Amino acid sequence: MATIKDVAKQAGVSISTVSHVLNGTRFVSEDKALRVREAVKALNYKPSAVARSLKTNKTYTIGMLTGSNANPFFAEVIHGVEATCYERGYHLVLCNSDDNLDKQASYLQTLEEKRIDGLLVMSAHSDQGFFEMLRDRCQWPLVVLDCQAPGLEADVIMEDPEQGGYEATRHLLDHGHRSIACISGPAELSPSSQRLAGYHRALEESGIPAENGWIVEGRLTAESGFEAANRLLDGLEVGQQPPSALFVGNDLMAMGVICALQTRGYRIPDDISVIGYDDIELASYTSPPLTTIHQPKAELGRLAADTLIKRIENPGRSHEIKTLRSTLVERQSVKTTM
Ligand code: RIB
Repeated sequence: MATIKDVAKQAGVSISTVSHVLNGTRFVSEDKALRVREAVKALNYKPSAVARSLKTNKTYTIGMLTGSNANPFFAEVIHGVEATCYERGYHLVLCNSDDNLDKQASYLQTLEEKRIDGLLVMSAHSDQGFFEMLRDRCQWPLVVLDCQAPGLEADVIMEDPEQGGYEATRHLLDHGHRSIACISGPAELSPSSQRLAGYHRALEESGIPAENGWIVEGRLTAESGFEAANRLLDGLEVGQQPPSALFVGNDLMAMGVICALQTRGYRIPDDISVIGYDDIELASYTSPPLTTIHQPKAELGRLAADTLIKRIENPGRSHEIKTLRSTLVERQSVKTTM
């Protein structure tokens, strides 16, 4: 197997020049760099990752803490993260914590031992305890996806959930709906509470008061959407009409909602319209196909990984909040009622 010494000999440069070319640690003239790259190719030289780490004090490894891998939303974001890591020569260590604080602590320990270069955090149920733990223990460049990061020295990549909630509700209003209920995600999660704020803004703007009992909370799962829709309908007073439309805080819950409504004999959208949030791939295959707010999930993942790698390479920059734009995707679950 060829060694770095062989490469240096073939290229007619010193070993340290080869090392600088391979690690990008110092400027090397284009002519020498080209000779090194040609020698690497000709000799099929494979640098040792361990030797490279010792030399550069970097492992080219990124950790990613996720809260749940059951929701396809997260898989689609992770796909974007992985693609960027692959292109930029970084390894990705995925740690799914099931939003459990003990598991999060244990994974942080593992990532410390692995000497990662930076950390991505996307934890749907990130609570105060988790953020405090990150503040105390996170020694790496940090990028938080999909939620705000109060008190953390981190870059944040997210969409604008308030605006998305507003646009979803506005779409229902524009289609003539006046009795609109909301099945939101957990109030303690900033994306969920902000989507709900957008719902309120759209209703207020149209002079429509939110009905008592028409805001019901789910846990972002299909099962919780099913239960929340049943709770909402069970809470109707005798003779009270159900809402003509529902804004649901994510697509998985919307699928549970559709199932609950259809089980009770409601036709969608003829009797009740439903709009979701996320535009996961499955949203095209519900019956009827779901109108929803499209989050640019793969782009979110790509941008987060790219931002983290830039910060690893240039730690001095000031932290940023980068906001991506979500857009409405019109399918067949919303009816026009005029
Ligand atoms: O589906 C998971 C939801 O939780 C997404 O909408 C994401 O934005 C997060 O808030």
